[in-house]
Amino acid sequence: MADIILGIESSCDDTSAAVIRDGVLMSNVIASQDVHRAYGGVVPELASRAHELNIVPVVSEALSRAGVKPSELTAIAFTRGPGLLGSLLVGTSFAKAAALSLGIPCVMVNHLQGHLLASFIKEQGVDSPQPEFPYLCLLVSGGNSQIVRVDSPLEFTILGQTIDDAVGEAFDKCSKMLGLGYPGGPVIDRLAAGGDPSRFKFAKPSVPGLDYSFSGVKTSLLYFVRDRLAEDPAFLENNKEDLCASFQKTLIDILMGKLVKAASQTGIKDIAIGGGVSANSALRARVTAEGVKRGWRTFLPARKFTTDNAAMIAVAGWYRYLAGERTPLDIAPVSRVAGR
Ligand code: KG4
Repeated sequence: MADIILGIESSCDDTSAAVIRDGVLMSNVIASQDVHRAYGGVVPELASRAHELNIVPVVSEALSRAGVKPSELTAIAFTRGPGLLGSLLVGTSFAKAAALSLGIPCVMVNHLQGHLLASFIKEQGVDSPQPEFPYLCLLVSGGNSQIVRVDSPLEFTILGQTIDDAVGEAFDKCSKMLGLGYPGGPVIDRLAAGGDPSRFKFAKPSVPGLDYSFSGVKTSLLYFVRDRLAEDPAFLENNKEDLCASFQKTLIDILMGKLVKAASQTGIKDIAIGGGVSANSALRARVTAEGVKRGWRTFLPARKFTTDNAAMIAVAGWYRYLAGERTPLDIAPVSRVAGR
């Protein structure tokens, strides 16, 4: 009998449900929440309410697109954390109630592990090579910037991480500062494509080991723009593309510096990326180019699987289900420390 897993993701501002059959993706539905755009960032209370509105229609749509009846499901995988607690509560409560009413097990998933395993999402008719364990994953999103050694579908070790802002936060906050809107990453990515990345220089942090820091580069951009605007009020408008390209290059230089160091220290040559920022065109190009130069095999998930999605939760949950994991129904979500 096939294993049919329903995955549920609600850690931040995307309500998502996906169905996989024996590891192959049947459907992946994502309802993004535009309500936050007006505030320039995710408003937790509004996110929880939107999840509550979206969860049932999103799950119904995922089952219908997969052609699967609820009674055919083997298990339900859900994101337990980390994330916004109110958002996580909606997905967790729904998953537990659905599992209880269907008489099937549920399996909790660490959201980060979902991103780490994004390269393992198999789509019908799509040939996507998978990394071999152990591999390194540069996990870059709105909440995380980490270099992770992935030892198996169930085990990973964080080798380095940000000591302050996440790189996605740097994209988002700087976009806001430049008046470019939210979320900042996609806007900066698009404008940077038409700009000169070597035109402006921003301070890079000096952090020991494999850890990152992104708050200094954000401040460096803030002071730089403030000083230039004092001389020329049209500076921003006339230099938007070059500013975005130069700022983006600085962030990518920082990310790649530590990734190269981690690969050389560990001797690992299978390198994957994941998380929302891994959708960035310039980062993807740099990882690929660096891979060619250094003999790495590089794994870039399809863009639709870089930002939050339930397909990665279903895959991670399936591996846990196969390993015999079952989550008791008295489990609660966690905002910071992710549960196994
Ligand atoms: O993984 P994700 O959807 O949510 C979590 O943070 O868990 O990542 C969202 C982040 C935002 O900061 C957004 O600006 C960034 O990913 N992002 C990008 C791009 N697309 C999304 N950053 C740079 N370039 C992009 N193309």
